[in-house]
Amino acid sequence: MPQPNAESERTRLLESTAPLERMAYFRSELQLQDEAMAVLAPYSEVFVTYAKDYADQLYAKFDRFAQTQLMLHRESSPGRLRRSWEYWFRALWTSGLDERFINMVWRSGVLHVSLGIDQRFIDLAYGYTRSYCRDMAEREVPLPELRKVLRTVDALLDFCMLLATDAFISSTQRCDTEVMMGVAHQLRNPLTVIGGNAMRIRRNRDSCADAHDHSQVILEEALRLERLVKAVGSYVNILNQKPEFQICSVPQLMLETLQELRPEYPSPDFEPELDLAENNALVRGDERCLRPLFLQTLRNSLQAMDKANPRLRIASRPSTATRGFLQIEIENSGPAPDPDMIEALFEPFHSIRPMGTGFGLPIARLAAKKCMGSVTLTATPHGGRYTILLALPGAAGESVFFAGE
Ligand code: HEM
Repeated sequence: MPQPNAESERTRLLESTAPLERMAYFRSELQLQDEAMAVLAPYSEVFVTYAKDYADQLYAKFDRFAQTQLMLHRESSPGRLRRSWEYWFRALWTSGLDERFINMVWRSGVLHVSLGIDQRFIDLAYGYTRSYCRDMAEREVPLPELRKVLRTVDALLDFCMLLATDAFISSTQRCDTEVMMGVAHQLRNPLTVIGGNAMRIRRNRDSCADAHDHSQVILEEALRLERLVKAVGSYVNILNQKPEFQICSVPQLMLETLQELRPEYPSPDFEPELDLAENNALVRGDERCLRPLFLQTLRNSLQAMDKANPRLRIASRPSTATRGFLQIEIENSGPAPDPDMIEALFEPFHSIRPMGTGFGLPIARLAAKKCMGSVTLTATPHGGRYTILLALPGAAGESVFFAGE
């Protein structure tokens, strides 16, 4: 899906490298040293001829399930995913498990996490891959050699799966740790201020002329903490939510959200421009995620708006780049966001507003991901534009895998 900023984010992710030492340990535990790999060498030429068929078959398998079908449509350009899988399959038999191959599998694991692909689907894909490779070997390898080859094929796929699992654990652990460290850091400053001001009042209990100012500071910091706690709570809530998909009306949810935000409008007569055609503005999503997604993006747009010339435009239409998705655009007048800073804004605690919690856009992105959608921000000549992609009703088959998730 060609998204603004998606490519730079992808480049950043793909710069990470696999923990080679740990992988060398797994490789030796699985007895996948060069001698074992040599067993496969006589067949690598014939195995690689299966690459296209393998990629097509894997694609067909995941195109059957509603959730993964939407994932498949999220490739950055048409056919790229199948080409990646083909490339990976060829490298499986020809790379000799070199550093480049190990990094490729690791990075694909990191990319899958960033795309929000459920790790269980990845495990399932490795399960299909194993059956595919075993069938292929049974067809191509003479019987006396078959047992040895199958043993190595199994070990090879175990190794790839371990690599993908390692990437998954490292990526998710890194996110969890960063959020926890961030919360600790955000708590420290206001608590220090609250403690300091309370001490001053206490020390000069009888004659504290500044008591009013000190208590004002305490109050402001307490409010800041309250906002932070609320934001973290809402983030964790969405994180733990199992989406229940229904058909939702974007205009209805937008209008309700705008009503909620009315007190934050720049003036009582301010009105956003709406271009949300009712007949093609239905999506398949969970209202409990769509509401915070719209709230956070609209609130951010309102706050970023040029106060002298406030303009907010909300439009929707079926996406031409990502079939099966509705594209919603929220555009505001005002200073354009710095393209180099945009991705950081979607990470917790990166706020450009002094009183911001830094959770608004992370909540929006998480909520979009939960609905198999996405949200990105781009600079325009006159301000900023959020682009939200959400699945249209009927975008995916009716068979929902992992029911209720
Ligand atoms: C055997 C299991 C799998 C392997 C070995 C694998 C491997 C890869 C590789 C090598 C890439 C390219 C990474 C890069 O650009 O450097 C990739 C990308 C991707 N994979 Fe997988 N993958 C697997 C399973 C899945 C599954 C089950 C899904 C979804 C249902 C999936 C969805 C994607 C998507 C959406 C991309 C990004 C495509 C693009 O925009 O280019 N993958 N995968």
